[in-house]
Amino acid sequence: MDIMELLATRRTYRRFAQKPVPADVIADMIEAVRLSSCGANRQAVRLVIAAKPEDVARIQPLVKWAAYLPPEQGTPKSEELPTLFVAVVQDTTIPGDLDTDTGIALANLTLAAWAKGVGSCIMGAIDRPRLTQLLGLSDTEKLHTMVALGYPTHDARVVPLTVATGVKYYLDDNRDYCVPKRSAEEIARYL
Ligand SMILES: Cc1cc2nc3c(=O)[nH]c(=O)nc-3n(C[C@H](O)[C@H](O)[C@H](O)COP(=O)(O)O)c2cc1C
Repeated sequence: MDIMELLATRRTYRRFAQKPVPADVIADMIEAVRLSSCGANRQAVRLVIAAKPEDVARIQPLVKWAAYLPPEQGTPKSEELPTLFVAVVQDTTIPGDLDTDTGIALANLTLAAWAKGVGSCIMGAIDRPRLTQLLGLSDTEKLHTMVALGYPTHDARVVPLTVATGVKYYLDDNRDYCVPKRSAEEIARYL
């Protein structure tokens, strides 16, 4: 897939096949984060991989899906749940703009997964205290986001952002995600 096609199709996915994410895809995601650009090359981002089905099951109730949709539309059912979670963690003993570094790492991680057909949902609406405990994070590690991953069972596409759509994603008649994005003219201008 060419890079622009990869970027266009790497959307957020929220329903998955019950099929494990293979080790080579997990290795690619780790490598994508390892290679990420970061301020002063300080490399403060850490990952905790939850791949065992029993760990994935313990994490599921601690994340919240699709705030713009009613739960019956946006929350995956038991046969649609992600099969892998990756916790994205910051080592706060390392100085710098860790949120920018983490954003770059998240983009690289989700693109590396999607390049092998594994879809993802970056999740910020999470129960941080309980996840911090479950993941065994130390006092100096800060949980930034969880990433839910798996092989998607739905499509997701970008649609024009209009007055009618606003920024809220919605499902079409096929239950595929439609994600309104602003036009190129709106987001960029030449000096
Ligand atoms: C920092 C961040 C936090 C997010 N948190 C959640 C979340 O808690 N639950 C969820 O279902 N989606 C979450 N998302 C996914 C966004 O809703 C999604 O990226 C956005 O609607 C745009 O869709 P797209 O990724 O297909 O472009 C999050 C995305 C980002 C980048």
